[in-house]
Amino acid sequence: MISFLNPARLMHREILLRPLEEQDCVVMSDIHVTGFDPAWGPEDMMGLLRQSNVFGFLAVETGALIRHRPVGFVLVRHAADEAEILTIAVTSQTRGRGVGRKLMVETLRKLYADRIDRLILEVDENNQSALHLYRQLGFEQVGVRKGYYTHAEKRKGVSGGTALVMACNVR
Ligand SMILES: CC(C)(COP(=O)(O)OP(=O)(O)OC[C@H]1O[C@@H](n2cnc3c(N)ncnc32)[C@H](O)[C@@H]1OP(=O)(O)O)[C@@H](O)C(=O)NCCC(=O)NCCS
Repeated sequence: MISFLNPARLMHREILLRPLEEQDCVVMSDIHVTGFDPAWGPEDMMGLLRQSNVFGFLAVETGALIRHRPVGFVLVRHAADEAEILTIAVTSQTRGRGVGRKLMVETLRKLYADRIDRLILEVDENNQSALHLYRQLGFEQVGVRKGYYTHAEKRKGVSGGTALVMACNVR
């Protein structure tokens, strides 16, 4: 009882990751809408999660005063020896606290264990936080897609249309 009144313990928070499940579709959509416009709805998420070659992780914040609050997720598809980040998002109020990095590192770990050779992704050329994260993890630019974000979702408040294709060797 006394330990629960300890301010340090009350403030303590941690981020836990677990594999995504179909029941997470609504939560995933709620997180996605904080980063993309238009965002993917629960049906889109369900359609992807039901594919046998799609997996992902949900990041959940937990602590003495917070019980399992979902704060981010990553969705990945693999085919043969290559995998692709379909999307990654962290809630606006949780960004910059290492959640995106945790999700990417866990993804790389799983791909390594699954003997996947390469991970690719597309990122808005103006998305500084994502570019910073990917470069730190060893991703390098391997292509450019002009006009990509006129056909796909774009980050909220960003009008840029060019996507960089980036790749990282997993093994
Ligand atoms: C991209 C995104 C997933 C990153 O998640 P995050 O939890 O904020 O990232 P992290 O806290 O793990 O930060 C990773 C690195 O990026 C850096 N970073 C974070 N925000 C940054 C910013 N605005 N500018 C520059 N670097 C930034 C961090 O400092 C950290 O580097 P460090 O370890 O050297 O400090 C998150 O910003 C997001 O959801 N954005 C909206 C959706 C999106 O753009 N998804 C990516 C599409 S490709």
